[in-house]
Amino acid sequence: MNKIKHFLQFNDLERGEIELLFDRTKWIKDQYKSYKKYWPLEDRTLVMIFEKASTRTRLSFEAGMHQLGGAGIYLNTRDSQLGRGEPVEDAAQVISRMCDAVMIRTFEQDIIDRFAKNSRVPVINGLTNEYHPCQILADIYTFIEKKGPIQGKTVAWIGDSNNVCNTWLQAAELLDFNVHVSTPKGYEIEVERAGLHNDKHFEEFEDPMDAAKGADIVTTDVWTSMGFESEKNERIKDFTDWQVDSDMMKIAGKDALFMHCLPAHRGEEVTADVIDGSHSVVWEEAENRLHVQKALLEYLILG
Ligand code: CP
Ligand code: NVA
Repeated sequence: MNKIKHFLQFNDLERGEIELLFDRTKWIKDQYKSYKKYWPLEDRTLVMIFEKASTRTRLSFEAGMHQLGGAGIYLNTRDSQLGRGEPVEDAAQVISRMCDAVMIRTFEQDIIDRFAKNSRVPVINGLTNEYHPCQILADIYTFIEKKGPIQGKTVAWIGDSNNVCNTWLQAAELLDFNVHVSTPKGYEIEVERAGLHNDKHFEEFEDPMDAAKGADIVTTDVWTSMGFESEKNERIKDFTDWQVDSDMMKIAGKDALFMHCLPAHRGEEVTADVIDGSHSVVWEEAENRLHVQKALLEYLILG
């Protein structure tokens, strides 16, 4: 079997490849904004497998394939054989014979890794418990659009050391920026789970205000990610002091951007005045999912 390029975690791509994707994203976005047809994936098909809910990921991949001249097919575990115990390896063999790429949103990273090992086509991580690489592509592209290169900049991560946090950490290692992380006790980063090579690109802070000080981006995510719902009540108590509010944005500085992958819970991880305020670029982040993923699909499918 030929070596197939997958995007299962952020550092599956090299720095030069990420930079190329961002160049392509700009071009593809410009074409789209000027209503120019660009159909490099005519007659190509992306299968999208969802084991968890989604609005943005489904829509951006499905619309993206359509806009590139191809098609997206949605499968979920509730009404396919995937939810009835068909081995992941068998599903990968079958599904990958009928399409040109597969996007999966699932639970453990091991599931997507096993799928990819048995796939004849590129596999893209649309979120696992461990990582959310497409989100961070969009977030970094959004930063670059607004402020220029991210190298040497500081991202403050406030809250749970979840899939989105782990992916920021991997991106920092690859693209040479820093992450200041503040999590409640018991929710700290696990270097191995985050897939990091070293601890040179992040620093941990007990007080979220210290993490936010002077940051170029302040970002957070829900206190309870999908798959962890049984811990919700405990988490609400543990995370109360890890809320991004206007005082925190002030300490970051007047040029700091606020980011959130969405969906958000106003009054929990972020206050309404911050997410709806002048620092916030959350809608741009969401839109850029569409554009960066089109560049990613083009790259993985056509090379
Ligand atoms: N940010 C993100 O992945 O959103 P969805 O869960 O709606 O896909
Ligand atoms: N950390 C969140 C991200 C949702 C897009 C979750 O996994 O539920």
